Amino acid sequence: MNIDKKISQLIKEIEQHNIHYYIKNDPTISDNEYDLLLRQLEKLEKAYPEKILANSPTQRVGAKPEHGFTPIQHTVPMLSLSNAMNKNEIIAFDKQISKVFGNNIEYVAEPKLDGVAVEVVYKNGELVHGSTRGDGYIGEDITSNLKTIKSIPLRLNKQLTSPEIIEVRGEVFIYKEDFEKLNNQRLKKQKNLFANPRNCASGSLRQLDPKITACRPLVVNFYGLGKYKGKNIDNQYDFIKTLPELGLPSNSLIQKGLGVDFLIHYYDLMEQKRRDLDYEIDGVVFKVNSFEKQNILGNRSRSPRWAIAGKLKSEQATTTVIDIVVQVGRTGAITPVAKLNPVKVGGAIISNATLHNQQEIDRKDIRIGDKVLIQRAGDVIPEIVKVISSKRSQKSIRYLLPTHCPSCNSRLHRQDEEAVMRCQDSYNCPEQKKAAIKYFVSKNCMDIDGFGDKLVEQLIEQGKVENISDIFHLNYDDLIVLERMAKKSVNKLILSIFKSKKTNLWRFINGLGIKNIGESASKLLESKYKTLDRVLSINYEELIKLDEIGDVMAQSIVTFFEKENNKKNIQRCVEGGLAFIEQQTNLPLKNEKFVITGTINNYKRSEIKKILENKGARVSSSVNLKTNYLICGENPGETKIAKAHKLNIKIIYQEDFLDLIKV
Ligand code: IVH
Repeated sequence: MNIDKKISQLIKEIEQHNIHYYIKNDPTISDNEYDLLLRQLEKLEKAYPEKILANSPTQRVGAKPEHGFTPIQHTVPMLSLSNAMNKNEIIAFDKQISKVFGNNIEYVAEPKLDGVAVEVVYKNGELVHGSTRGDGYIGEDITSNLKTIKSIPLRLNKQLTSPEIIEVRGEVFIYKEDFEKLNNQRLKKQKNLFANPRNCASGSLRQLDPKITACRPLVVNFYGLGKYKGKNIDNQYDFIKTLPELGLPSNSLIQKGLGVDFLIHYYDLMEQKRRDLDYEIDGVVFKVNSFEKQNILGNRSRSPRWAIAGKLKSEQATTTVIDIVVQVGRTGAITPVAKLNPVKVGGAIISNATLHNQQEIDRKDIRIGDKVLIQRAGDVIPEIVKVISSKRSQKSIRYLLPTHCPSCNSRLHRQDEEAVMRCQDSYNCPEQKKAAIKYFVSKNCMDIDGFGDKLVEQLIEQGKVENISDIFHLNYDDLIVLERMAKKSVNKLILSIFKSKKTNLWRFINGLGIKNIGESASKLLESKYKTLDRVLSINYEELIKLDEIGDVMAQSIVTFFEKENNKKNIQRCVEGGLAFIEQQTNLPLKNEKFVITGTINNYKRSEIKKILENKGARVSSSVNLKTNYLICGENPGETKIAKAHKLNIKIIYQEDFLDLIKV
């Protein structure tokens, strides 16, 4: 086959896989196979550089634009939206429209994505340029950055005849989960954190070097049309439905409906769903469906009369920093926490916000007594967005983290490249000991029922527990003298401790709190080494051979098991009766991935997780392409079910679940 043909065939194949991945959420090949195709193309292009096509998938990351971002005029202005702050204002919007067309207008309702508005222009199916909204009339040419976003096709789906010209508008945003991962990586590397996914998306699109943009997890959803020359489309809903056919991603929650009742129902629905969504929205957008009606209604100077944004309650609020306290974690990490004047944000009372580290405190210059803007996003711990400096007291002084551990008074150190300060006296620091024990007894470790935080605190303070091994030697007399412990609760606790002694090896390894070793690494160690004795004698050379274990993890494991104190404590656990459930060799659910939603009769979530894991299954919290089954109990999460339907994932209901676990 000639080279041109081979190159064009590979490009077509890759484009089709992109559509399966980004539009249909149904990839037909593995990531590895996809990479292989890309590499094949790269190899050919390297051998024949003159044959590289501008819109080849290998050309997503290009050179820096020479003169920064150049201005670009939008053919059709990119207007903004006027806001409805509550239901009455939504009703008023519908009234205005109804005056012109009568009641029961057909509307399209869309989530208002909290990202950055962009326009991408395709001519004869080829991406020609992309820009920011700018002032609505003139934006900036950010083509080279937009091309790095894999969900933006470089060519439209050629299966269909492409429109001669299509200018599509949409929102570039970041999934909450990807944002958290990115910020965690930045925290470790001592880089400044992004305040929220929107800021991160916006900063990423404004990078002069597309290589940086390419490393950010940006995605896009399209929702608007600029100039268009193609097959006739006469309403917003049909336009939205055409997008995926062209290879352009749109939002799955867009609906069509009639009249004001539909608007209010959608507004309530999204208010309810908001927290469950994988991405942030700051409202809903209502649009008159018919393009003809939109034209009749026309625009004001900055916003159309045919659309409105229904704002959802803010997830931000202002309050005062009453104090800054310092927490000592189980590995000695020092985390400053702001104690706030309690305030209601997004339906919850917030009285703490994490401050991460000194660098973050300095960057935002947060001081005790400051009035601050705080925000909650998803399940993330609330954060301070900024200080309202105009309200700062003149007497306030810069906050500095202590130089010594607030618990044991030993000097704090910063290790290597880390951003956090640590207390290094793990054997004597009461707070570190408390945190380590709380972790050891927690759900994902030894899972000792009834071993609460208050109990741990008392046991450490009274010197009854010094390290994990003491837990297995506690007796009735030790416990009955504690506050809030009566005969019945003591007996119950002794029984839970007894039950926990027969456990999976990975739970114990996880509970040891080895730095950099979490649940999945612990499971890996169990599956490779099988017994505690073998784990204890692991050496660095063997460990580093395992794919999933890198240098830092291997060092950490070896150092931990070399310490005499650790060896002694582990030995004492065994003497106290700790024994391990042998790994079943025949695991009926091996490698099957489950997600659980809702409550299942008589079972705690952690119990279901345990049952499944003992049969070799993996349990995770969000439905994605890798999920095999969704277990659905009472009051399930709507989003999880919808996603399972969309991805064709088998849903197992309560009754059938009981059959399954008999396997
Ligand atoms: S329509 C003339 N639809 O909201 C129509 N905008 O306040 C203008 N946005 O700049 C935009 N999701 O960044 C529209 N489904 C959606 C949207 C949306 C988010 C943003 C967009 C726009 C801003 C207007």
